Amino acid sequence: MTLDGRVAVVTGAARGLGREHALLLAAEGAHVVVNDIDAEPAQVVVDEIVAAGGQAVAAPGDVATWETGEALIAYAVETFGDLHVLVNNAGTTADRFLATMAEDEWDSVVRTHLKGHFVPTRWAAAWWRHQAKAGEPVAASVVCTTSTSGLAANPGQSNYGAAKAGVAGFMVTAAAELARYGVRVNAVAPLARTRLTEAVPELARRLAPPAEPGAFDAWHPANVSPLVAWLASAACAVTGRVFLAHGGTVELYRPWAVEAGVEKAGRWSAAELGEELAALT
Ligand SMILES: NC(=O)c1ccc[n+]([C@@H]2O[C@H](COP(=O)([O-])OP(=O)(O)OC[C@H]3O[C@@H](n4cnc5c(N)ncnc54)[C@H](O)[C@@H]3O)[C@@H](O)[C@H]2O)c1
Repeated sequence: MTLDGRVAVVTGAARGLGREHALLLAAEGAHVVVNDIDAEPAQVVVDEIVAAGGQAVAAPGDVATWETGEALIAYAVETFGDLHVLVNNAGTTADRFLATMAEDEWDSVVRTHLKGHFVPTRWAAAWWRHQAKAGEPVAASVVCTTSTSGLAANPGQSNYGAAKAGVAGFMVTAAAELARYGVRVNAVAPLARTRLTEAVPELARRLAPPAEPGAFDAWHPANVSPLVAWLASAACAVTGRVFLAHGGTVELYRPWAVEAGVEKAGRWSAAELGEELAALT
């Protein structure tokens, strides 16, 4: 597998998981556009890629802003001549129990993740649609970032969990819509030691690096990046799937499979249905 000549945009790539994705994509031969809302650390990642002999440019900005999303995709095409990969990774948290959550804590988290996925994907999709309609072959890949918090309960993260479940929902629809242009869309649910997880004391303890020198650092964010690189490659045919990744573990998720059901040839009464469903759950 190689990413030679593929042009990739990675959002939120100044630190944490996004930084590792950008470094690995570049090491595998991709030309990388490093986006982050923080310009300075984004430039550090670019400098690191270039120093290692790779190709990268910085494109700072808030990825949930319409103009930034449009400019980001246009910049990738102008700088490197095309776009093949979009890694939607930028994210934030504002944890609080539901009963005391502030309006802005809900809005900002939902906006960053959901609109932050939609906007760059929308502009990338427009580029690939344009190419497909012009008869150009397209073999593109979008990698979204969801979370176990969106696939299972995590008290204190109703805003984040709702946004991340939304990302998984966005992904399956985007995969179905964009297949006609030659675009695959998948989602990764990572678990790694980053600024986000270090902010939660219990997680920070659990994900600490190993004490023994040379031992496998299972929670290093770089462990997630090979999955992203494979999903980004032209060699991969997978679309519409969610993968959980941490350490050396990768699991295929099936977020909304039917577990059980009841059926009758007519309308249920509420009482009758209640009895059936109570037995089912
Ligand atoms: N670390 C984990 O275990 C974990 C688990 C599940 C999901 N995730 C997801 O992985 C992604 C990366 O998170 P991380 O853990 O590396 O955290 P991080 O804080 O280390 O990195 C997130 C990056 O996104 C950037 N960012 C935030 N809002 C932005 C915006 N509007 N526009 C552009 N950039 C923005 C930040 O500046 C930061 O550099 C997020 O989507 C997060 O929700 C992480």
